[in-house]
Formats: sequence, C-alpha cells, structure tokens
Amino acid sequence: MSGGGKGARDLWGGHYSSGPAPLMERINASIPFDKLLYAHDIVGSQAHARMLAAVGIISATDRDAILVGLDAIRADIEAGRFEFSTALEDIHLNVEARLTERIGEAGRRLHTARSRNDQVATDFRLWVRDAIDRADRALAALVTALLDLAEVHAETVMPGFTHLQAAQPVTFGHHLMAYVEMLRRDRGRLADARRRLNECPLGAAALAGTSFPIDRTMTARELGFARPMANSIDAVSDRDFALEYLAAAAICAVHLSRFAEELVLWSTPQFGFVRLGEAFTSGSSIMPQKRNPDAAELVRGKAGRMIGHLMALLVVLKGLPLAYSKDLQEDKEGVFDAAATLELCLEAMVGMLGTLQVDTARMRAAAGVGYTTATDLADWLVRVRGCAFRDAHGIAARAVRLAEQRGCGLEDLTPAELAGIDPRLDPGVREVLGVERSVASRTSLGGTAPDRVREAIAAARAELAST
Ligand code: ARG
Repeated sequence: MSGGGKGARDLWGGHYSSGPAPLMERINASIPFDKLLYAHDIVGSQAHARMLAAVGIISATDRDAILVGLDAIRADIEAGRFEFSTALEDIHLNVEARLTERIGEAGRRLHTARSRNDQVATDFRLWVRDAIDRADRALAALVTALLDLAEVHAETVMPGFTHLQAAQPVTFGHHLMAYVEMLRRDRGRLADARRRLNECPLGAAALAGTSFPIDRTMTARELGFARPMANSIDAVSDRDFALEYLAAAAICAVHLSRFAEELVLWSTPQFGFVRLGEAFTSGSSIMPQKRNPDAAELVRGKAGRMIGHLMALLVVLKGLPLAYSKDLQEDKEGVFDAAATLELCLEAMVGMLGTLQVDTARMRAAAGVGYTTATDLADWLVRVRGCAFRDAHGIAARAVRLAEQRGCGLEDLTPAELAGIDPRLDPGVREVLGVERSVASRTSLGGTAPDRVREAIAAARAELAST
C-alpha cells in the first residue's frame, strides 16, 4: 500500500528535512478507510475548480485539464487501476498527487483557496448525505413490507403483552403497525439531520476563510447544498452532522433490534407464532430439529455496534478545542460501518418478512390464554351495570381467581358462580369475553380494532406515496 516515490511531505513539507517514521505513517494514514470518499472528493474538487475559474483565480484551460484529469482518476479507481499510497496519507492527497502526475502544473493550482480541512468536511458531508438517502430508501422498503403484512393480518388476533405477560388481545396487524410508526419517525429523524447537514463547508479553508475572491454560493449550489456554512471555524471543526446521522441510525437499529427479538421469541416452538424461512435461518450440526433465527439474532446484536459508533464519536468530539484537530480523522470508520450495518439490517428484515409464515390459529389460541379478556369483563360491569371502574376491577379479579382455581376460562364460569362473585355479574357478560369481540371493541383512536388498523395502514400508505 505504501507508495514508493511521492509522499505527503512532497506536497506540504517545504520546511521539513526528513520523512516520517514508519510508525507515524501507520498511525497517521487514513487512506485504508477514507478511500471510500473518493467519488465525493472528486466532485468536490471539480466544483472547486469550476468556481476558481468562474471568479478568475485559475484559467479555463487549467479548469478543463483538472476536470478531465479528475474524471480519469475516478475511472481508474472504479476500474481498480489506482494505486493508493499510505505515504500520501489520505484520499485528498492521493487524488491530488495523481492529478498532478497526469496533468502537471494545473494540478498544483487546484488547492488554491482551499485546505484539506474544508475539503474533508465537505467530502464527509456529501458522503453522509448519500448514506441518509440510501437509508431512507431502505426504510421505505421495510415500511412497505410491513404494511403489506399488516394488511393481511388486520384481523388476526394475537396476545398483546406487557411485562411479557399476556395482557389483552390485539391484532397482529396492529402490532406490526407499531413498528411502522417507529420507522416513520426514523425516516423523519434522518430527514431532519439531512436538512441541517446540507450546508457547504468549502471555502472555510484551514479555519479562517481565504483572501481569494471565491464564490462559496456557487460551490454550495454545484454540490447540491442549500447554502455555504456561515462560520469558517465551525465549518471545519464540527461533526454534529455525523453525530445526528449516527444517532438516527442507532435509534433505528434499536427499533430493528426489538423487532428482531420478537421474531426470535415468536419463532420458538414455545410461542410458535411464526416460522422464518430456511433462507434466513440455520440448522444445528448436532440437534437435527433446530431452526435457528440467526439473521434476526444478528440484527438484534448489531444494534450494539451502532450504539457504540455514536458513543465513540461523541467522546472524540467532547473537549476538542476549535478548530480542526487530527482527532477528527477518527470520525469516519464508525460512520462507514454504521451505514453499511444499518443498510444490511434493513434489507435483512425485508428478506425475513418475505419468508415469514404466520400461524394464525396458534396466535388466536394464545390470545385468550392468561385471562386476557378480564379487562373486557370489568369494562362490561362499568358499561352495563354502572359500576365504578375500581369496583369492576376488583370483581373481575375475583372472577379470574375463581377461574384459575377451577382451571377454566372466564367464559366457563357458571351463572351461579358468577352471581356468587357479585350479584351484578350474569352470563350476559360472556358475549364480551371472546378475543375477536375484545379486539373489535378497541375502536378508540390508535386502538387495535381491525377497522382502526385498516385506517392506519391507509394513512401510512398515503404518506409513503408522498415521500
Ligand atoms: N485525513 C484528514 C482527516 O480525515 C484530512 C484533513 C487533514 N488536515 C490536516 N490539517 N492535516 O481529517
């Protein structure tokens, strides 16, 4: 990797008489990872060259040589013909040195009115902006998959849990729509981050701005930024745009992790609510019956590193004096890994959902286990008998205790047993004790009734189509 010949010190080391220690080269070089920025570095330099020519700082001939030279370098990199050099530290110096090799003198004019400090901040913003757009598309695909599944299961009854104890029956569609809501907010967070990120650092130079008559609005526009960043010191020193991306990505990863955990639970023989396709599970070399939900486990596990990347960059930035310090070179690897991990997890979830077999009979049977309609019994006492809810709750609790003792369901208690619990209880209550009836009655806004779920699906589809 280390190039013979040219090193970074040939580009900036006029006042240096010796080369770096080999260890310095190892700790200092970012090229092993920041070569990922090549495309953004090249478009950034091309915008800069166009601007320099537009304001008369370089000639049109030099500009054209630079533009063509950079295009050729991009083609070389993409064809695997570019030899990256650790002696040239980073992607910026690698590209610039190669440009000068190709086009001579004009290449040496490109770095006018610019520093690697504003250059790297620009490249990295462009890269994170693309990562946000990729994540948004992947999120939209997962939302679509969830909506399709929720539609099929708008009426499928399953147990809803609190404390992982059977609580009240819900519809599977409603449960899935909870994740749709989380992912909608994840998209919103990414969109917010993108809006704040979308200002251009280029022209801040090292930290103070430049004495050349540059046109920062032009470079900002060329690169699709809304405007130049207002303060040159801020432009080269903050990485809050990367933090916001990492935070949004980590929150999304936590959402995916919770969903993955539910897939793991639901696919156990004990729950048996779903079966994951062979394509996303693995067998065991010793236990022939096993179907392990590896992909779901990995989505669950990878949330750990996503959270770690956010923490790592927060710690790098805390206490760092303005403006640029080399610590900031530590900003990239975590973001690159977070983006790759997030996109992989989102795609894996779509893949898993595509193979999901839902055992609706098993879900329905489980929905009634654990006296999950005890609240319906209490609500009936309030609605039909005019009880206060606190009293109704006590009566329902006694009914549950008796049914537990008898080992039967609430609906199996005899008229005499019901009357023995409280004279206001009679067999008329049985009509609210079925799980279908229970979910159908939850018609409050945002509730689990199938009609409400279908409304929520329609609203989410409309929103998805408009974004
Ligand atoms: N590779 C460096 C980074 O990622 C580029 C900026 C270098 N600036 C400097 N003043 N040495 O941060």
